[in-house]
Amino acid sequence: MHTTSSNKSKIATPFSQQLLAWYFKHARTMPWRIPPEDHHQGVRGDPYYVWLSEVMLQQTQVATVRDYFLKFVEKWPSIEALAAADIEDVLKAWAGLGYYSRARNLKKCADEVVLNHGGKFPYKPEQLKKLPGIGDYTASAIASIAFDEPVAVVDGNIERVITRHYEISTPLPAAKPEIQKRVSEVLDADKPGEFAQAMMDLGATICTPKRPVCGLCPINQDCAAFSSGDQELFPVKRPKPEKPTRKGAAFVICDATDNVFLEKRGEKGLLAGMSQVPTSNWTARHNGATGEAAFPFSAEWQMSGIARHTFTHFHLELEVWKTKFANEPPINGWWCKSESLNGEALPTLMKKVLAKAGF
Ligand code: ADE
Repeated sequence: MHTTSSNKSKIATPFSQQLLAWYFKHARTMPWRIPPEDHHQGVRGDPYYVWLSEVMLQQTQVATVRDYFLKFVEKWPSIEALAAADIEDVLKAWAGLGYYSRARNLKKCADEVVLNHGGKFPYKPEQLKKLPGIGDYTASAIASIAFDEPVAVVDGNIERVITRHYEISTPLPAAKPEIQKRVSEVLDADKPGEFAQAMMDLGATICTPKRPVCGLCPINQDCAAFSSGDQELFPVKRPKPEKPTRKGAAFVICDATDNVFLEKRGEKGLLAGMSQVPTSNWTARHNGATGEAAFPFSAEWQMSGIARHTFTHFHLELEVWKTKFANEPPINGWWCKSESLNGEALPTLMKKVLAKAGF
């Protein structure tokens, strides 16, 4: 942590004043967050913490991220420590958060910040965006929360607050530029990080998707949707295409002492580089083989059930086949002791497969 004294001009709107007064009293406590009373005393967060939490929070909820974040900063307390880590250890610590390409980019980003930026994150969104795994949202969140750069941060919570407040009827994602513009207009340029986090907390606790608690909202006076009673009609979303259901098969091969045979997925695509039991060749776009046609070699295969998992763009149903195999399987991989499975970089899908096979 470090302290600063800001000499930026103070630009507060009634919207931001009411919001920040509410945040001062009701901010959620998070291990990466500087409480507003400390922020007012000039305490600033560690950009490493802000970056790590924001990458973890991409598509994962705050409640899930808390424990992962604490585990990461205990193992790797600084960006230098993370850059020095073994990628396999990072993937293992990430297992369960999903989207392993994010963990790979996390490590690449740490390497780059240490090698090319002397271990210090750049503070401008345009510079941050050049780093691996940092897109528009994450760049503006880091710039705003870690460095108090006056940029508009817009996540799903903030989209909901703003589309309701102004009854923006353009469907998402087309409404994004308009939302961005509205946030820029009401943002407190002196406390942009507090403003962004206050908006996120408002969206998560009061301006909720279903049955928002508008009576407690600090900015309800000017909220168009509160006044019309149409809160739940916003944000307007383009209808989502139906998710297809893909099928395939997974093979749990055990030896006499219940060691399990694992292999590594390819370095590209879904679950890249993660460990798995062998599977047929399913992808987001097509089914893999199922039944006997899928068996990787001949053995006494027994069906243990179906493992189901939902990814962003599709549902997956894997037949789980199990066999006891005394010899070395004629495919690449390694034996893993059953008690060591928890320490492998196994995606949630594979935990479900192994559970179906009795592990
Ligand atoms: N979601 C993403 N980033 C967040 C943050 N800094 N605070 C609360 N919710 C978040």
